[in-house]
Amino acid sequence: THQWRGIIEEYRDRLPVSDTTGAVTLREGGTPLVPAQVLSERTGCEVHLKVEGANPTGSFKDRGMTMAITRAKEEGAKAVICASTGNTSASAAAYAVRAGMVCAVLVPQGKIALGKMGQALVHGAKILQVDGNFDDCLTLARNLSDNYPVALVNSVNPVRIEGQKTAAFEIVDMLGDAPDVHVLPVGNAGNITAYWKGYTEYARDGVSSRTPRMWGFQASGSAPIVRGEIVKDPSTIATAIRIGNPASWQYALAARDESGGFIDEVTDRQILSAYRLLAAQEGVFVEPASAASVAGLLKAADEGKVDPGQRIVCTVTGNGLKDPDWAVAGAPQPVTVPVDAGAAAERLGL
Ligand code: F0G
Repeated sequence: THQWRGIIEEYRDRLPVSDTTGAVTLREGGTPLVPAQVLSERTGCEVHLKVEGANPTGSFKDRGMTMAITRAKEEGAKAVICASTGNTSASAAAYAVRAGMVCAVLVPQGKIALGKMGQALVHGAKILQVDGNFDDCLTLARNLSDNYPVALVNSVNPVRIEGQKTAAFEIVDMLGDAPDVHVLPVGNAGNITAYWKGYTEYARDGVSSRTPRMWGFQASGSAPIVRGEIVKDPSTIATAIRIGNPASWQYALAARDESGGFIDEVTDRQILSAYRLLAAQEGVFVEPASAASVAGLLKAADEGKVDPGQRIVCTVTGNGLKDPDWAVAGAPQPVTVPVDAGAAAERLGL
């Protein structure tokens, strides 16, 4: 029997690791590429969802974290630190456990989803809630890693990007070539950078015949790249992408321009509507930030920017269980019934 071995073993020759590097892994990657029937009908395209919530800690961060923690361990680090809107901290905490390291996380006070906080706690991370936003947390994390013996595992660490690029490899390996368009949410802009790196490497080496156009979507209240200026007080219900000064800003612009794509914004209302559509009509439960990719695709389709017949992949970055409040909010309360088939049948309209 054979199971997926994790991205370092599966793509070792395309990653900056030596033959002797022992991977710190939870067998991340190898995530489902799910055909999206309703989205395909709505757009007249062949739409697929790259379901990154199926990673071990429930988000795409595990691809970068296996690389970052593997390298930190190899270099003798005893402790790692990250700033996070939640998913990076959950992932860092879990991989630090595997490596026997201390993990420190800095999160914006009151602005991370409960599930993510629970993960960091149960994996034993040292958590500081910072009286500031994600951008402040990242500034603080950089300062600490510059001045104290602790390795930074945010995506400003280039090996994080190396790990995350494997998602593009998997898509090409699965489809036989690159899609026409790749759509994803943009926060700190590490992931769009990573996908573009993966796609361009495969095209350069002839594994694929082309690269896709990269379409990125920020939340309207946190859309510095769209506005062309830092957003001092970013806001959105999609807390994962509540970021006003993305670290990989310049790389995101390069991915956009080199691929012939664009970076646009979607409102919280559009995000929540895509979130509900994914769950109720595609059977895929994602966290709100993840739905920004799909919200963006639907917005682009409404604006006539989506030519029919194309092959489109949307990355949905994190699992819906991370932030279930939005699933419950506004939904009708389940009714209570006695242990009685007749009463139950009546309530079910059978
Ligand atoms: N989707 C989810 C679920 C995320 O957690 C993030 C980023 C993004 C999208 C955006 O990706 O930053 O590479 O552009 N989360 C980071 C964190 C910031 O700390 O977990 P990006």
